[in-house]
Amino acid sequence: MSTDTRNVQPLRVEGVTVRFGGIVAVNDVSFTVQPRTIHALIGPNGAGKSSCFNAITGIYTPASGQVRLGETVLTGTPPHKIARQGIGRAFQNLALIGTSSVLDNVMLGRYSLTKGQFMAYGMRLPWTMRQERAHQDRAAEICDYMGLSHRLHTPAGALSYGEQKRVDLARALCVEPTVLMLDEPAAGMNSSETAMMAALIHDLRDDLGISVLLVEHDMSLVMGIADRITVLDFGRRIADDVPAVIQRDPEVIKAYLGGAPDESGESAEAAAISSEETSA
Ligand SMILES: Nc1ncnc2c1ncn2[C@@H]1O[C@H](COP(=O)(O)OP(=O)(O)O)[C@@H](O)[C@H]1O
Ligand SMILES: [Mg+2]
Repeated sequence: MSTDTRNVQPLRVEGVTVRFGGIVAVNDVSFTVQPRTIHALIGPNGAGKSSCFNAITGIYTPASGQVRLGETVLTGTPPHKIARQGIGRAFQNLALIGTSSVLDNVMLGRYSLTKGQFMAYGMRLPWTMRQERAHQDRAAEICDYMGLSHRLHTPAGALSYGEQKRVDLARALCVEPTVLMLDEPAAGMNSSETAMMAALIHDLRDDLGISVLLVEHDMSLVMGIADRITVLDFGRRIADDVPAVIQRDPEVIKAYLGGAPDESGESAEAAAISSEETSA
């Protein structure tokens, strides 16, 4: 897929704290997503991963700390302007319009890039028609890259779950991100769909030369593709390192063992971390 060669800047999360009343969801967390790396943010349920994502994308305003893309401070900027800075985001829970076509859903991701003149759109002025067509061509190109070209005019609600996840990703790519943020891209997927998603994320990074910040529960996916991993527990950063070190970190293993236990008394994630360790 053709893409411009934009300058990819590091995304820096600097001492970010997010509070909800008395709850400290994110507690003085710092990490840097280096250009063109796949960076995973992991941790047990309620650790503060989604809150951290929402602080980066401008949905939540941190109580303290800041987020920067290169030297540009993003904190305090509204979400659509952060998207325009090149931060693309897919959602944990699919937010597609089921009755609208795949192309229309993906085009929604594109509108934050248009000059936002809906009056002009309504009047169908020639230049807006031209602009709209250019955006549609690019949206179709992105869908093609995601293997959705035969589905452009199908209602999104009629697609399989795996395909809907790809539509959501296509929409995130439509802002031409230099940093792509994915909140649990493999949630609800079986193991072959998960393997496909892992390969896709890896290819995206290589083909587009962008950074990926990823929240994911599936440890085999994370350990397989992440260049670096930040671990949160109860809102705090407890580790930040390469996968091989994270897998052996006693505090990380303890955090997962202390998580919701299954019948065997061990959390599924802790088992996955240690099994990754033995297979490594
Ligand atoms: N909108 C909210 N209002 C109040 N509390 C919230 C809200 N969102 C998250 N929390 C709380 O903040 C903590 C972190 O949640 P979250 O960021 O969703 O964690 P994760 O994504 O790691 O599971 C949890 O204790 C959660 O209950
Ligand atoms: Mg979450």
